[in-house]
Amino acid sequence: MAHPSAVSLLLFLAAAAAASALADLHPEFYSETCPDAELIVREVMWMAMIREPRSAASVMRFQFHDCFVNGCDGSLLLDDTPTMLGEKMALSNINSLRSFEVIDEIKTAVEAVCPRIVSCADIVIMAARDAVALTGGPYWKVKLGRKDSLIASQEDSNNIMPSPRSDARYLIDLFGRFNLSTRDMVALSGSHSIGQGRCFSVMFRLYNQSASGQPDPELDPDYRLKLDKMCPIGGDENATVDLDATPLVFDNQYFKDLVARRGFLNSDQTLYTWSETREYVRLFSEDQEEFFKAFVEGMIKMGDLQSGRPGDVRQNCRVVNGQPMENLMEY
Ligand code: HEM
Ligand SMILES: *[C@@H]1O[C@H](CO)[C@@H](O)[C@H](O)[C@H]1NC(C)=O
Ligand SMILES: *[C@@H]1O[C@H](CO)[C@@H](O)[C@H](O)[C@H]1NC(C)=O
Ligand SMILES: *[C@@H]1O[C@H](CO)[C@@H](O)[C@H](O)[C@H]1NC(C)=O
Repeated sequence: MAHPSAVSLLLFLAAAAAASALADLHPEFYSETCPDAELIVREVMWMAMIREPRSAASVMRFQFHDCFVNGCDGSLLLDDTPTMLGEKMALSNINSLRSFEVIDEIKTAVEAVCPRIVSCADIVIMAARDAVALTGGPYWKVKLGRKDSLIASQEDSNNIMPSPRSDARYLIDLFGRFNLSTRDMVALSGSHSIGQGRCFSVMFRLYNQSASGQPDPELDPDYRLKLDKMCPIGGDENATVDLDATPLVFDNQYFKDLVARRGFLNSDQTLYTWSETREYVRLFSEDQEEFFKAFVEGMIKMGDLQSGRPGDVRQNCRVVNGQPMENLMEY
């Protein structure tokens, strides 16, 4: 027979677990405790963009790579330690994700005003929204109140994050696992309206895809010549190429490029090749407002993803609270 206090402890733990299972996210979460949080995030983002325009795209990408791996919990931001392989070195992230220092700058600025209040996970969400708005895209209210994870998982990132070789069928299924619709997936791919990719991400498409029995007839011949020149066999695979014709402006040019068969990644162009996604590409290419509306809905849904695991508010986005700094392997 269980001791009564053991039973009540168990009930308490069950209740606590239930309470921590899913945070109740809402836009006013910091309105009492850190009313200037959103203003500070926007100002630091703005300064980062003046210093380096591409950082808007690089920071915006963090939301995708954080939220898809065990929810939006800042796990992406943790540096590796001797006992934990983090997500920064995962297949889709290594030599690719950049501008982590912008998140550090935001965190430092916010900590100076309201220490230990604003989570790194929420900073990613706010900064991604601001990156879109500051490059000419839509603005929306973000929900806040996320906690930062105590762990990260390189393995989970490797298993989840899609390869640039993916086709539309694969991407529909993958996003579907997160309750994101085909429309959400196509609109969210429109994030490639800003930023750049490496030749590394397109080499297979350019030189091996046909040989592998997966022909890629969808490239505009002029664009193909341009890519061959920028990304030759044996060339620098770290060289970067714009993801659309207007890489500093968040607009629907990306979708116009796909219709013109000038999509950079295989995963981009496939959205126009496949019938399930083609009508969305066409619609967004013709109607920027429709794209913006669908994109905002997708970003909000993606921002709602939570793991239900315990968390707290990190002091430093790269390290779990209480962990010795000298153990960190900084990148
Ligand atoms: C649909 C599946 C997706 C695939 C397969 C994919 C893949 C990629 C790849 C391969 C790159 C270039 C990386 C490199 O070469 O270093 C890239 C860049 C980028 N991705 Fe995605 N992505 C996807 C969806 C998304 C989503 C949902 C977002 C955000 C909402 C996003 C935001 C970005 C941004 C902004 C960049 C440019 C980053 C920069 O310039 O630093 N992507 N993506
Ligand atoms: C998707 O929706 C179903 C049904 O509402 C829910 O049970 C499931 O947890 C959701 N999955 C994710 C990843 O949010
Ligand atoms: C293309 O295929 C060749 C021969 O199979 C291989 O050596 C090379 O690494 C492949 N390149 C890419 C970019 O996949
Ligand atoms: C790309 O750059 C990274 C470091 O930024 C380096 O480790 C890697 O070897 C480079 N890759 C190629 C193919 O040059």
